[in-house]
Amino acid sequence: MMHAAVTPAYGPPSILEVHRVPVPVPAPHEVLVRVRASTITAGDLRLRSGDFGPSMHLVGRALMGFSRPRHPVQGTMFSGVVASVGDEVDGFAAGDAVFGSSQSGGAWAEYLVVPADGALARRPENVSHAEAAATPYGAGTAWAFLNDLAQVQPGERVLILGGAGGVGRFAVQIARHLGAHVTAVGSRASLDTMRTLGAHAVVDYGEDDFTALGETWDVVFDTADASSFRHSRPVLTEQGRYLTLYASLGVLLQMLRTRWSRGPRALFTVCQGTRARTELLAGLLASGAIRPVVAARFPIEQVVDAHRRAEQGSQGAILVQPAV
Ligand SMILES: NC(=O)c1ccc[n+]([C@@H]2O[C@H](COP(=O)([O-])OP(=O)(O)OC[C@H]3O[C@@H](n4cnc5c(N)ncnc54)[C@H](OP(=O)(O)O)[C@@H]3O)[C@@H](O)[C@H]2O)c1
Repeated sequence: MMHAAVTPAYGPPSILEVHRVPVPVPAPHEVLVRVRASTITAGDLRLRSGDFGPSMHLVGRALMGFSRPRHPVQGTMFSGVVASVGDEVDGFAAGDAVFGSSQSGGAWAEYLVVPADGALARRPENVSHAEAAATPYGAGTAWAFLNDLAQVQPGERVLILGGAGGVGRFAVQIARHLGAHVTAVGSRASLDTMRTLGAHAVVDYGEDDFTALGETWDVVFDTADASSFRHSRPVLTEQGRYLTLYASLGVLLQMLRTRWSRGPRALFTVCQGTRARTELLAGLLASGAIRPVVAARFPIEQVVDAHRRAEQGSQGAILVQPAV
């Protein structure tokens, strides 16, 4: 048996309970990981509360469970050590330090099983379990949007809305890594963080509207739901791309419309972890191109406090860690 944080129904942080549940058994193609650290992301908060936003409510509930979460042990990002592997797994062995993400949750527990060909990679030696667990959500998303979707080129000007948030912290670093000039927008309290992460210029959204600065950008990456294609369009270059993390009917229609017309485009995708991208992130961590920021760690028994802390917002990852 093992300790796990169980979400019996959608609700506030207090809905979470720590129980003893059976240790999962890996199928032939799966890996059993002893979890050393797991993050609580903004996406995880949505999954716990069942709040998928007005336009995605039915889709979210259909995918994740109508009246209660389909996977009661949630938690999607992890770092840990391989405890055992299924009969058909090669490439991983007991004792390997690994990190990654699980689409079916399970990471707020002492052990989880993940497919060996899923979003799993060896943890680079230069990062801790906490740092590795803090990487796949934000860095994987930022890479998918900035590199794969927008294909940011060296010398392009990129503006990140929410540059100190879970995705934004990595977006600033990855845009720099891709050779862009980076402007990061955040609250006054986050300006130093965004500069430290590598932003060339920072904007306090409490003081300035980025569209009124007299500047233009090739990419506006909205990680904060603080703008829209229409709002950003006047400051986008002719080849400009407006990227948003937030699904809405409006942005999907704008994607279709701008795909076939000249001028700036609206782009959205849903990012899912893959083996290839997790290995790529391991390389970025190993080379020092990206650096995760950890704000607080909680033992798994204090998962309710950890969720309350995550809901307050922070400029670093909030982690839960099982006892070793
Ligand atoms: N489409 C996908 O595949 C995908 C992938 C990952 C995440 N998501 C979704 O993306 C959302 C954001 O994720 P996240 O983890 O980055 O959230 P987060 O950690 O809450 O970050 C949002 C940031 O936006 C800042 N902000 C608030 N108002 C702003 C404004 N007017 N202008 C500029 N910045 C502002 C906040 O800063 P202050 O608190 O300092 O104001 C905060 O740092 C979540 O809802 C998640 O579900 C989607």
